[in-house]
Amino acid sequence: MFDSIRCASVTFSRRRRIGPARNRARALAAILVGFIALTPAGSARAQDEETSGLTYHKDILPIFARTCLGCHHTGGSAPQSLETYKLARSWIRTSGRQMREGLMPPWHAESGADRWRNAILPTAEDAETVRLWIEDKAPEGDPADTPPPLDFSSPWALGEPDRVLEIAEPFTVPSVETDHYRAFILTTLDTETWLSAIELVGDKFEVLKDMTLSALPFEDAERLAAQDDAAFDRVGPGPDLQDIAFWSAGMNLTALLPKGVAIKIPESFSLVLRVHYRGSGAVLTPRPRVGLHFAAEPGGHELKTLSIDQREIEIEPESYDFELGAERTLDSPVTIHFIQPRMQYYGREMTVTAHTPDGAARELLKVTNYLYKYQTRYVPTEPIALPAGTRIAIEALYENSYDNPNNPNMDPETATYGAAPLGEMLAVTLGVVE
Ligand code: HEC
Repeated sequence: MFDSIRCASVTFSRRRRIGPARNRARALAAILVGFIALTPAGSARAQDEETSGLTYHKDILPIFARTCLGCHHTGGSAPQSLETYKLARSWIRTSGRQMREGLMPPWHAESGADRWRNAILPTAEDAETVRLWIEDKAPEGDPADTPPPLDFSSPWALGEPDRVLEIAEPFTVPSVETDHYRAFILTTLDTETWLSAIELVGDKFEVLKDMTLSALPFEDAERLAAQDDAAFDRVGPGPDLQDIAFWSAGMNLTALLPKGVAIKIPESFSLVLRVHYRGSGAVLTPRPRVGLHFAAEPGGHELKTLSIDQREIEIEPESYDFELGAERTLDSPVTIHFIQPRMQYYGREMTVTAHTPDGAARELLKVTNYLYKYQTRYVPTEPIALPAGTRIAIEALYENSYDNPNNPNMDPETATYGAAPLGEMLAVTLGVVE
C-alpha cells in the first residue's frame, strides 16, 4: 500500500529476510541449551567460541543493513557508520548493548512490526546473533560473503525529484549548545499542485535536528517566517495547518504516501520549512533540501493533516508524572495513514485512543519511552478507518525534573507552551483521508 517508504534497508531485507543467520542462531541457541545442560560450567564458553561461526560479513551485516544502515551509513543522519567492518569495529560493543536494551534503532511505540509498517526493528534473534558474535570477539569473516552493498550514493531514496527546493539564505547555527528555530518560505506555487511524494534531505546532522514542511497561505507563511527563537510556534497557525512532510533523526522513512493518495497544495499557497537546530560546539550552516515528486494524475484521495493539541501548559519544576491531555471529535469519517506524537524534552509517554460512537475505545498508539530527538511518524500496516463522531483523546506524561536525563535545562523552570528548551508542547499530527 505505501510505496514510498525510504527503502534502502527494506529492499535489502526482501532479498535476505530470513537469512541463514537466523536459522543458524536458532540452531546455535538450541545447541547451547543442550550443551550447557550436559557439560560442567566453564567449558560451555570455550565450546561456544569454537562453534558459533558467526561473522560480520555473513551474519551481522545483513542484520545491520535491514535495521541500522538506513541511518548509519557514511553521510547518513547517524554519525557512526556501520557500513564496513573497519568503520563498525569501534561501535560493536555499544551496538550490541543498544540493541539489547532496545535503544537502537530508535523506536518508542510499545508495539512493533505487527502494527506499524515503518517498524524496521531487529528481532530478539537478531539481537541474540549480534550478542553471540560479540562474545566471539566479533570476527570479520570472509568479505566474499558480503551481500551486495546498498547504494547510498544519491540522497534521494525515491529517485530524482521533479523539483528541488532549497533555502535561499540558510541559517548559520552558532556554536553554543542551545536550540534554535527558524522558518523559511521556500516557494509560493502559482498553480494547484498534487504531490505523490516529498523528501526532506538534511546535512550537518550535528546541528540539524528536525524539519517540518508546511503548506499555507502566503500571509500565514510570512508570519511564520518572521518568527525566531523568542516566540516560535511549534504547532503553527490553527489546528489544520497542513504539515505535509517531516524529518527527524528518528525517522527511517522519508515519505508516506499510499498509492492513489496525494497531497494537494492549493494555488498561491507557500511551502514553508520549519527547522529546529541545536548548537554543537562548531559553527555550521546546514543546507537542507526538499524534493517534490508530482503526482502523475492530479486528483484522487487527498491526504490532509489533522492536529490535536493542547497549548495550556504549565509544568512546575520537580514534576515527575505530570499529566496533560487533549481531544478532538471527528466531523466526518477518516482513514488514518500516520500518527505523529509531538512533545519536547520533558515528554515521556503518550497514548492516543479513539472512542468510537458505539462506545468502544481503541488504543491507536502507545509510546512509552519518548525521546524528542528521535521523533517519528508511525505508519499503520493498514490505514485505520474511524467513523464520524469518533473522539480522539491523547494523554501524555511529562517529567520536568533535574533527574530527567533528557532535560537540557540544568535548573528546571516552570515549562509553558512554546519552543524547547524551556517550553513544552502536546500535539498529535494525524495524516488522514476524509
Ligand atoms: C532512524 C535512524 C537510526 C536507526 C535505524 C539506527 N540508529 Fe543508531 N543512532 C541514530 C542516531 C541519530 C544516533 C546519534 C545519536 C546522538 O548522537 O545523539 C545513533 C547512535 C547510535 C550509536 C551510538 C550510541 C552512543 O552511545 O554514542 C550506536 C552504537 C548505534 N546508534 C547503533 C545502532 C544500531 C546497531 C542500529 C541497528 C540495530 C541502529 N543504531 C539503528 C539513528 C539511528
